[in-house]
Amino acid sequence: MKILSIETSCDDTAITIMKTKGCIKNASFKILAHVANSQIAIHISYGGVFPMLAKREHIKNLPILLEQVLEEANLNKKKFSKSRAFLNSQSQALNPGIDLIAVTYGPGLEPSLWSGIVFAKELAEKWNIPLIPVNHMEGHIVSVFGKSKGNFTIPKIEFPLLSLLVSGGHTELVLSKNFLEYKIIGQTLDDAAGEAYDKVARMMDLPYPGGPEISKLAEELRGKENEKPILSGSLSGVATPALPLGSSACETPIKNCFSFSLPRPMLHSKNFDFSFSGLKTAVLYLIRNLKKENPNILQDEKVKQAIALEFENAVVETLIYKTLKAKEKYKIKTIIVAGGVSCNEHLQKEMKRILKKEVTLLFPEKKLTGDNSIMIGMAGYLQFIKNKKKVPKISSIKANGNLRLK
Ligand code: KG4
Ligand code: ZN
Repeated sequence: MKILSIETSCDDTAITIMKTKGCIKNASFKILAHVANSQIAIHISYGGVFPMLAKREHIKNLPILLEQVLEEANLNKKKFSKSRAFLNSQSQALNPGIDLIAVTYGPGLEPSLWSGIVFAKELAEKWNIPLIPVNHMEGHIVSVFGKSKGNFTIPKIEFPLLSLLVSGGHTELVLSKNFLEYKIIGQTLDDAAGEAYDKVARMMDLPYPGGPEISKLAEELRGKENEKPILSGSLSGVATPALPLGSSACETPIKNCFSFSLPRPMLHSKNFDFSFSGLKTAVLYLIRNLKKENPNILQDEKVKQAIALEFENAVVETLIYKTLKAKEKYKIKTIIVAGGVSCNEHLQKEMKRILKKEVTLLFPEKKLTGDNSIMIGMAGYLQFIKNKKKVPKISSIKANGNLRLK
């Protein structure tokens, strides 16, 4: 069947058309066309996503992207109207050959979600086809099986499966004993990992989104092991701890021109929850103290690199430590790391170094780490067949900004 999928949960507008077949165990996908529009340039001056502006942009871009995706998939109306299918099916005269629409209905920014949902409802009604609402986080989980081009299938997965979902809005550890069944076993109590990256970036006068900027700065310094520290500051008094799992430890902090210590929040709490707002505040105080000595300190690239490096080490160590703890408790066989932060170079490297030999470790293709409509089409198809093609009434589908996996 042909699925058209729509993603508008935050600041990316994206539409994909894919061909799908098979049941859950051997589902296969072929990307026919994929188009997307990022709103980063529009939100950059606000230092983050401005929801009403995002909604306006989605509404403006969706019809344009629809034309493009149909054209790219060779399904545009003019060509289709001459075809035999058109002659045979007057009632679906406007349907260019799509069998199912999948749309993100949460979690995310509700104004953004609604723009995709309203658009999808209109199309589904006009084309007289079912509409399936998709959980964005389930999309991120299945994104590890996807490709941005061509054909792919869902491989055999060994359970229990643990998903570490790290994005701008979420940081969650999700346990699955079976495919498409979820139990959230840990989550952030305040800021998401990506949100902490974005906020720390803003403190350092770096543009939105902050994740790639901080990561780039940190990478510039990581590996320069032999330089001697010429200044050191410790805000929290907490020395950078080695990861407390013996040989699984992250590299000890490298010597660099500047060296700072930041806390690893909730590392020793008994649960699998995270907290990043204390770490973010520690960076705020660190910068404030440094600025007391020298108001222009952030103009020094080396200072920014050192803050970025220590901040990233703190985030990555915390994420990995909690993941390892959950892996041991639940005897996990497969680990998925997905969401915008999953493309982080240090996180990927450390995860692979520590976990590759112990579990099957899966990351999405780089282009599928951030928000995209390919993962929404995949999750939509898998839910459609799991529910034996039953879908909710179109009029009952609503945006749910706080939707949770279950
Ligand atoms: O999944 P995503 O595209 O959108 C949400 O659903 O939130 O994730 C976006 C987040 C942003 O906070 C962004 O700063 C972060 O992912 N991010 C990164 C990197 N690339 C994007 N964080 C750390 N390192 C990166 N390389
Ligand atoms: Zn996302």
